Amino acid sequence: MPTSYENILLERRGRVALVTINRPEKLNALNIKTREELADVLAELRVDDEIRVVVLTGAGEKAFVAGADINEFAGRTAVQQRAVMKAKSIFTAAEEFPKPLIAMINGFCLGGGCELALSCDLRVASEKARFGQPEINLGIIPGGGGTQRLTRLIGEGKAMEMILTGNMIDAQEAHRLGLVNQVAPVAELEAKTMELANKIAEKSPVALAMAKTAVKNAARTTLREGLDAEIDLFALCFSSEDKEEGVRAFLEKRAPEFKGR
Ligand code: COA
Repeated sequence: MPTSYENILLERRGRVALVTINRPEKLNALNIKTREELADVLAELRVDDEIRVVVLTGAGEKAFVAGADINEFAGRTAVQQRAVMKAKSIFTAAEEFPKPLIAMINGFCLGGGCELALSCDLRVASEKARFGQPEINLGIIPGGGGTQRLTRLIGEGKAMEMILTGNMIDAQEAHRLGLVNQVAPVAELEAKTMELANKIAEKSPVALAMAKTAVKNAARTTLREGLDAEIDLFALCFSSEDKEEGVRAFLEKRAPEFKGR
């Protein structure tokens, strides 16, 4: 029985799940309820064998996610804020999600929204998407991984500029910096993102999970540890039926049919 959510829409399209953060009147700002539900929907999709790739987006035409819900910041103490951020971190849940996660960015992608997109594996933006870490304007700093993931992705100089000024950048600049993988016209965003998602969904889920872990290791470990782990993950692929199917299909000059085993 599929779970229903208040602020999240979940649609299964074959092997791809489309998760939509659905608070368009608040530009999909992340309040506690939305964070909890996002963590829950990822937990649900994690164990759903039908689903191989997840696309995450925001409802409406204006925003992917305009950040943490600023209303919840007023009057909150440091201890309360820490507890909120430590409980069911959506950024960690996204990063540790074993299947490829694609952010489909349709508008404002700010603060915690930008950090959520950074926690995904791939980012596809519409031409009107705008990116920023505007926390500095509120007298705070990014707390969902922005100082770390943004810096690793686009380099210290540009990350520092975005975080210290709070300025937004447009989709073209985000693409030039490597913050997004693709930019699409507004009307083509969904089709382009689904094309990418479906292409990845054809691959072996076992190999996808190993590949994701191996690549993520690059930011977590030393080069030596990462290279050693890569060999282990590579070898682990040899325990899957999918590896046998992939190799046989190549030798038999046919398309492979991966089962995720
Ligand atoms: N938290 C809570 N509510 C938010 C929000 C956020 N992060 N971002 C937008 N909203 C709400 C607005 O308060 C407004 O609600 P209202 O209609 O009840 O007043 C609604 O979403 C629409 O936003 P609005 O500001 O009217 O749209 P705009 O087009 O004039 O401006 C932004 C868009 C994104 C520039 C502006 O909303 C903004 O600066 N948001 C905050 C971004 C931010 O600082 N994020 C980081 C938080 S740590």
